[in-house]
Amino acid sequence: MNVSKAIHERRSVKSFTQERHPDPNLIEKIIEAATWAPSHHMNQAWRFDVFEGNGLLKLAELDAQIHLNELPDDLEEGSKTEIYDRRIAKMMQYPIVILVSVPKLSNRKSIYVEELAAGAAAIQNLLLAAHEEGLATFWATGKLARDKATKSFLEIPEEEEIIGVIRVGYPKPGEVPEQWREEREPLTNKLNWHQS
Ligand SMILES: Cc1cc2nc3c(=O)[nH]c(=O)nc-3n(C[C@H](O)[C@H](O)[C@H](O)COP(=O)(O)O)c2cc1C
Repeated sequence: MNVSKAIHERRSVKSFTQERHPDPNLIEKIIEAATWAPSHHMNQAWRFDVFEGNGLLKLAELDAQIHLNELPDDLEEGSKTEIYDRRIAKMMQYPIVILVSVPKLSNRKSIYVEELAAGAAAIQNLLLAAHEEGLATFWATGKLARDKATKSFLEIPEEEEIIGVIRVGYPKPGEVPEQWREEREPLTNKLNWHQS
């Protein structure tokens, strides 16, 4: 697929079909594409944790618990259970979830903001490669990415960042909502040429 076409066509997709599950080889192919992103000193400070099946259920339970922890203590048990179950169901509708984190390297040349930038480039590669393969993706972050419980779950240091909770699957036909297709702000709002 032409790169420009992929860039302009790719959109966040919220609904995934349950009829078709991405092949593990395809998932590895898009992650491999991610790793061709540039990184300063070729540090390649990125890590991908892929969740599906029972593994995904464990991530869903963690996510539900994180959301439960934020609720007022005096909320009645029935409501808590309902919220917990809703979070589990939400996560389990995604065929695959990939957590992308950025390790802190001991390499003294490593500057963390640069590793974060490179990690974001890797994610965009992944999204575009997935699009080329007919896969739909949604790059989210949210409480799951920020909570220290998730870092403990992944056994990574608390000061490291999880920069993406990437949902991957085949799209449900016709399920890309209009608001996700909105135009970008005009370039004139964002662009400064310096020529003299
Ligand atoms: C770093 C990052 C974090 C995001 N986190 C969320 C999120 O937590 N929840 C959400 O609904 N969308 C999230 N998004 C998705 C964006 O809102 C979405 O990409 C944007 O609206 C543009 O839509 P498009 O991907 O179809 O172009 C995130 C995007 C990025 C780049």
